[in-house]
Amino acid sequence: MPVAFAVLQVLPFAWAVGCVVAMTALLTAAWQRITDGVDPVQVAGPVGVGLVTVLAYRALDLESRARQAVAGQLAEEQHRTGALAERTRLSREIHDSVGQGLSSINLLLQAAEQAWEEQPATAREHVRTAAATARGGLEEVRRVVRDLAPAELADDAGGAALADALHRAAEESALGSTCGLDVAVRVHGEPVPVPAEVAAALVRTARGALANVREHARAGRVAVTLTYQHDEVVLDVRDDGRGFDPAAVRPSATRGRGLAGIRERAGALGGRTEVESAPGEGTTVSVAFPVAGGSGGDR
Ligand SMILES: Nc1ncnc2c1ncn2[C@@H]1O[C@H](COP(=O)(O)OP(=O)(O)OP(=O)(O)O)[C@@H](O)[C@H]1O
Ligand SMILES: [Mg+2]
Repeated sequence: MPVAFAVLQVLPFAWAVGCVVAMTALLTAAWQRITDGVDPVQVAGPVGVGLVTVLAYRALDLESRARQAVAGQLAEEQHRTGALAERTRLSREIHDSVGQGLSSINLLLQAAEQAWEEQPATAREHVRTAAATARGGLEEVRRVVRDLAPAELADDAGGAALADALHRAAEESALGSTCGLDVAVRVHGEPVPVPAEVAAALVRTARGALANVREHARAGRVAVTLTYQHDEVVLDVRDDGRGFDPAAVRPSATRGRGLAGIRERAGALGGRTEVESAPGEGTTVSVAFPVAGGSGGDR
């Protein structure tokens, strides 16, 4: 019997069946010779056992192959899903960090070129701001690739670094705007510790929403408001621009990833997103993330 299993393991199925049949026939013939005389039970016994062995092995073998195939498909599927999730994360983080910085640099350099002859001091200031933005952008690329929060958010116990980061995003946005956008930042409520990835999401959402204001809103004023409530932290970016119909937004191959990225990022961290807008009525983008143990009240 062990020899039969070894044969089934080593040879292709058809050959193995031949071998097992031949082995059974040989053994039966030898047994006939020893016992001298033909007993049908003695012939049928080994043949039956041989047959059952072959069929049982065949069934086991088929099942194990099917199981291996399913495991392989599962592993491949998991790999594909993981790679896709990472690609989506990188694309939205790059959009709202480096992408926004590059558009600021572009606008600042255009403004510098225009002021070059008449207002050299202003032009130099624009170039200096563009260079600082580029340096910050380089650092951000490294952090995005390593899935780290923006550098300015390291060791943020009292929420001061988060407020500073929002001020900086607002400043860059106002500087990068060519039509004198007024950007105000306000913090309401008593700050509570916010996980680094949530703080990073708040800053990147603000940057993404501000990039949209600068690019699409034709607004005069925009207010960035961070509110600590008892069980959540909320960020609103509200502009007084021309507004749009959020239900009518259709992403193209290369554009239209901004608002979707804001939604996906918030969703991935257990938060929610609202976009309120209508033509002629300005736009408010809000994200809210749950936090543990805060308190209400204005500051
Ligand atoms: N603050 C805003 N004011 C007016 N329209 C807006 C505002 N924010 C978004 N929109 C409209 O919503 C559309 C979708 O914005 P979204 O950020 O998703 O894509 P995008 O800015 O067109 O491209 P991308 O961000 O991928 O470079 C914009 O094309 C614009 O028409
Ligand atoms: Mg956008």
